[in-house]
Amino acid sequence: MKNKLKKFVLLWGFFNVVLCCSDCFSLCPALGGCLGSSRDAQCPGAVAVKKRIDCHPQPGASQEACEARGCTWCSTDVPNAPWCFFPEDSPYGYSRAGNIEKTDKGWRVTLNKRQSLSLFGNDISPIVLEAEFQTKDRLRFRLYDPNKQRFEVPLKIEGPGVTAEEANYEVEFSEDSTHFTVKRKSTGTVLWDSPLVDLFFSNQFLQITTTVPSTSVYGFGEHEHPTFKHNMDFSTYGMYARDQAPTSFANLYGVHPFYMCVEPDSNAHGVLLLNSNAQDVTLSPNPSLTFRTIGGIFDFYLFLGPTPENVIQQYTEAIGRPHMPAYWSLGFQLSRWGYGSLDVLKQTVDRMHRYDIPYDVQHLDIDYMERRLDFTYDKVNFAGLPEYIQELKKKGMHNIVILDPFITKDEEPGTYKPYDLGQEMGVWVNNSDGVTPAVGQAWPPGDSVFPDYTNPRTVEWWTQLCLEFKDVLDYDGIWIDMNEPSNFLRGQYPGCADNEINNPPYIPSISDRSLSQKTLCPDSKTYLGEHYNTHSLFGWSQTEPTFNVVQQATGKRAFVLSRSTFVGSGKHGAHWLGDNFSQWKDLRRSIIGILEFNLFGIPYIGADICGFNYNTTYELCLRWMQLGSFYPFSRNHNAEGNSEQDPAVFGDEFARISRATLLIRYSLLPYLYTLFYESHVHGNTVVRSLMHEFTSDQQTHGIDTAFLWGPAFMIAPVLDEGARSVDVYFPDAEWFDYYTGLKVPSAWKKNYSTVSAPLSKIPLFIRGGYILPEQAPATTTTKSRLNPFGLIIALDEQGEASGSLFWDDGDSIDTIENENYFLAKYTFSKGNLKTEILKNGYPGADTLKYNNITILGLKLRPQAVTLNGRSIHGDAFSFEMSGKLTLRISAPLTQELNIKFY
Ligand code: NOJ
Repeated sequence: MKNKLKKFVLLWGFFNVVLCCSDCFSLCPALGGCLGSSRDAQCPGAVAVKKRIDCHPQPGASQEACEARGCTWCSTDVPNAPWCFFPEDSPYGYSRAGNIEKTDKGWRVTLNKRQSLSLFGNDISPIVLEAEFQTKDRLRFRLYDPNKQRFEVPLKIEGPGVTAEEANYEVEFSEDSTHFTVKRKSTGTVLWDSPLVDLFFSNQFLQITTTVPSTSVYGFGEHEHPTFKHNMDFSTYGMYARDQAPTSFANLYGVHPFYMCVEPDSNAHGVLLLNSNAQDVTLSPNPSLTFRTIGGIFDFYLFLGPTPENVIQQYTEAIGRPHMPAYWSLGFQLSRWGYGSLDVLKQTVDRMHRYDIPYDVQHLDIDYMERRLDFTYDKVNFAGLPEYIQELKKKGMHNIVILDPFITKDEEPGTYKPYDLGQEMGVWVNNSDGVTPAVGQAWPPGDSVFPDYTNPRTVEWWTQLCLEFKDVLDYDGIWIDMNEPSNFLRGQYPGCADNEINNPPYIPSISDRSLSQKTLCPDSKTYLGEHYNTHSLFGWSQTEPTFNVVQQATGKRAFVLSRSTFVGSGKHGAHWLGDNFSQWKDLRRSIIGILEFNLFGIPYIGADICGFNYNTTYELCLRWMQLGSFYPFSRNHNAEGNSEQDPAVFGDEFARISRATLLIRYSLLPYLYTLFYESHVHGNTVVRSLMHEFTSDQQTHGIDTAFLWGPAFMIAPVLDEGARSVDVYFPDAEWFDYYTGLKVPSAWKKNYSTVSAPLSKIPLFIRGGYILPEQAPATTTTKSRLNPFGLIIALDEQGEASGSLFWDDGDSIDTIENENYFLAKYTFSKGNLKTEILKNGYPGADTLKYNNITILGLKLRPQAVTLNGRSIHGDAFSFEMSGKLTLRISAPLTQELNIKFY
């Protein structure tokens, strides 16, 4: 138990180095030994350590308290393992009552509580377990109170329904009815297995445990995880939206109770717990997961995959596909809290332009506001901002403004419309009386009230203000910050009443073990109910209305960047990983964050390049510019008071390297944009781990230092200070060095190899078998979008490759839905490149051309080449001994290409 293991000492055993707690009586022979045995030698008769489920999850366990609740107390040397745990014959839990009843889409069964014993009081009995076969690959199963409606997340996930025979899963009770299981029909693998004996369903404490078929478990958020593949050694993660800079084990800004597990035979499945209450999950070595939440119901959705990509496609089909970002928003973005004046901003922009660094978007953080008041701008320090925004627009750039979700109530009456109008319309989160607004403190002067975005009136109010503000500052997108919601006090004035809502008997493993620290009291009232239930939905409920008003205000595709997110936020918003630190650790962990948010259906994701808190260093920032050039959302952002860190501020060499790396990004934007199209339409991830593509290679399961854009482009950044090489794992495929086109030696496959990475270079590789569309880069996407296209054709061992290109005007609303787009599919086989135009609905594509085709991995120099039947002269192509052929052509994008090599 974590709280018990105050101090660790490193002990040298005969065979192993082990970590034991300082008050151990005996030397733990080896961690594996402690965990692995079916019985625990230190605790005769007790369940094996690895199977322990914490019976005293709140702090302050003691033998007395443990035994009083009918559980077993026994110390262990295993770090984090509970010392108070449920015995095999737990007196708790539920048992099946009566027969399984058929329903429209599945079945339901009643469960009765077994005994009157209670952990936290107010146990509910009977409860109902209902299985709903939503689709053949999606099962919903939920546990609820049949006699009382409890809070449910207002996100409807429905399916047409399939019969038990049609489903790819089988749901059943064990023969003795003590376990509820879900199996994958095709393999018999048990995906879910919950004993009913440690199931809890009380008013403010719900707990369920399931075994998982392997330790390859990914997901759960939002946290700063040390690894992408989880450590299952009794790690507990709390989930409750919080204004919290990324810190190990802390609950951060958003809530995503979703995980994916790769089964021993490489099939994958995913599970969502649709619940917005404060909760935590313990990952135990059995391997098993224990979910604990303090409200709502248990509403689980299981997605059958069977590939990791299928899991995410099915997940986003259920929760909402990611929105299609505007093309310009894939360009590089610059931000800083603390420009302090328009002059400083202008100097920054000017030096970016002097160095010709690709750069599309400028963000305006709170210092553009007058005294940090939403919907104003500082007419002294930022005098001329509206005109300057127009100037940037003329250069083909775009502008994002930040808005916070707190509104001061202390301006002179009649002088601050956002408050006066909101007050008149009654749009605030209220105190527990449901009538008086909750008043806290945040950036603006005086005290602030908090708009309740779950209320349709608030949406009206917000829409009106955002529309009016567009006439003041001509923004292209809105950054919604601090929407956990953040409040600089512990609850609103005058503090939170001491009641069971504000201080529930169990508080999940969240920072400060407090539901009100840095936010509002849980008993505050929102339109959808108590803040206790809706707290973590605050940012989520603000995102959709902001998306809608940005569309309305700009008439273009919306850009909304939200700090707090929940299940389904990706449909309307982007996210960044919050207030990270200028440290090498944060650089490394940002990869894990972007991989996880791709699992959560929010692929438009990035971290503050060069770090937000602290001063950065030249080398860290340069390596971060290199890695960040491949974040889907690529923005350099910095906190007030820190030294400047834009890529133009460090001098010529830094600027040259940043420019070169960003030019690679810009040249590959057609590929990235096509991945976003796939994500929007089919739900694919944009950035994915090697495990996603090479699932059967166990070695990939733990890799989180390199990642892929789609299936085909590997980014292997330098993550250590002073390093001038990277150890890269090459899964079994053909790989080509992006810079040279050289094929990676066969001996490197399925091995780690050291590749050189001088300060000027981030290692990049293209996977054979794929065709990547590219476009000559420029310093904005406005310009680059007019340039000629190229194709990089990287051949696999059979000399084949395929790929596609999605193209539209880049910022109109619903171009896909309205069929105003161009889509081409490319296939290379038997020395022949063919394109097939699947859609030619975007007239703007007519003026575009291909001018460059690069083929990697050719075995021989072709004797002759024809383009659409006409031969191409030798001087239009060049061949290198590495097998790289470059072809210069001029052909319209919208005509089918047919290139033959003889
Ligand atoms: C907190 C945000 O996380 C950060 O990015 C921003 O700069 C500050 N608020 C100031 O607005």
